Amino acid sequence: MKIAVIGTGYVGLVSGVCFSEMGNEVICVDKVEAKVQMLNAGQVPIYEPGLQEVMVKNAEAGRLSFTTDLGEAVRKSEVVIIAVGTPSLPSGEANLSFIEQAARDIALSMEDYKIVVTKSTVPVGTNGKIKEIIAGLSAHPFDVVSVPEFLREGSAVRDTFNPDRIVIGAENEAAAGRIIELHRSLTDNIIVTDIRSAEMIKYASNAFLATKISFINEIANICEKVGADVTSVAEGMGYDNRIGPSFLKAGIGYGGSCFPKDTQALIQIAGNVDYEFKLLKSVVDVNRDQRYNILRKLETLLGDLNGKIIAIWGLAFKPNTDDVRDAPAIEIIQELLKAGASIRAYDPIATANFRQWVDHDSIAWCSGALDAAEGADALCLLTEWQEFEQVDLKTLQETLRKPILIDGRNVYSEERIAETGFVYSSIGRPNMNRGENRHAFAL
Ligand code: UDX
Repeated sequence: MKIAVIGTGYVGLVSGVCFSEMGNEVICVDKVEAKVQMLNAGQVPIYEPGLQEVMVKNAEAGRLSFTTDLGEAVRKSEVVIIAVGTPSLPSGEANLSFIEQAARDIALSMEDYKIVVTKSTVPVGTNGKIKEIIAGLSAHPFDVVSVPEFLREGSAVRDTFNPDRIVIGAENEAAAGRIIELHRSLTDNIIVTDIRSAEMIKYASNAFLATKISFINEIANICEKVGADVTSVAEGMGYDNRIGPSFLKAGIGYGGSCFPKDTQALIQIAGNVDYEFKLLKSVVDVNRDQRYNILRKLETLLGDLNGKIIAIWGLAFKPNTDDVRDAPAIEIIQELLKAGASIRAYDPIATANFRQWVDHDSIAWCSGALDAAEGADALCLLTEWQEFEQVDLKTLQETLRKPILIDGRNVYSEERIAETGFVYSSIGRPNMNRGENRHAFAL
């Protein structure tokens, strides 16, 4: 199949590369000239394991190319995929200006029948608007199909080739059939529905996963007070097939480019039709407050944070990505700075991106995990990168000025911590706390 993909962000680039790997001819379009040049030179502007190899292989095989010329890409393709961003407006609503512009550009470029596929996450009804825009500007026939994307950053290539399901929202059976063909080799779980339901499936899925995370985080907070262990609780719950084990890892809350934005957008979508989504509002509130657990734990152990040196391990919103959008580390570091602490921060790959959000004279950007720990009054682990799990805890303890370790992602086992002299606090595991202030955490 000949495919044009508009937008080379996470979704667009990964989809384009993966469709070319499946044997299709793909042209990816981006309006940023420098990005297109970079991609044509075989370089990936995002950190995504495995993506570059597949991209270069298919570009060399002549199945994948990058251009700023949207018109030509559209004219050469049967399927045009819209994968531009839908960032949040201050109200929480999705900003649809890039989507609308893409629809106008497609309409003004097409010279024959096209299937326009929307992969960007868009509020219910947006595909209808896309249809109106194109129909208003072009006399050529077309169909609009919604195919929401469920890939996760850090495992985007694997997720694309091994999806749990493909959702196809369409009005026209023949167009749906072509899009089923495009995905048939990936999974048997292809759900074909109407366009509005497809749009809703994406929001409902992300909102549900965010709910699972906030739920287990609240259970963790209660575990701390009643002396239970949230990892055992989650394991015990997860064996129930109706619950399932995934997304029950307690920590400092979710971040990233999807959950924060999509939960806010769904609250707005509901609000626009006079429905207050109370449950989801609470999920968002719980998530924001969970970040503050780190600060509360620090204050319990160190008292006034003014003048203290705090080491931070992990800036990305999760491991295996350099994405820091809505990362809990942003707010935690800002609060620490406000309290007068100075920071020694380290992340394996996200530091440069993070500095575009927060930069300050009181932050030392460190080149390694132990470097960041050097002379600090306490260490906070905010992202569960594997290298943090593998660190020698005895050396770490000697490197810190005070042996205080706050593990925001429950990375270390009870056995490992028991062998050390750390004053240790994690999330929802009060019985693991070690050291002089051990009982303070169980309060
Ligand atoms: C998510 C969805 O999983 C994906 O289907 C959608 O297309 C985009 O949004 P992503 O944001 O890449 O993907 O990351 P994900 O792995 O889902 O993690 C999101 C956040 O939740 C991270 O901050 C992570 O640390 C947190 N999380 C996840 C938890 O705190 N606990 C968990 O058990 C799982």
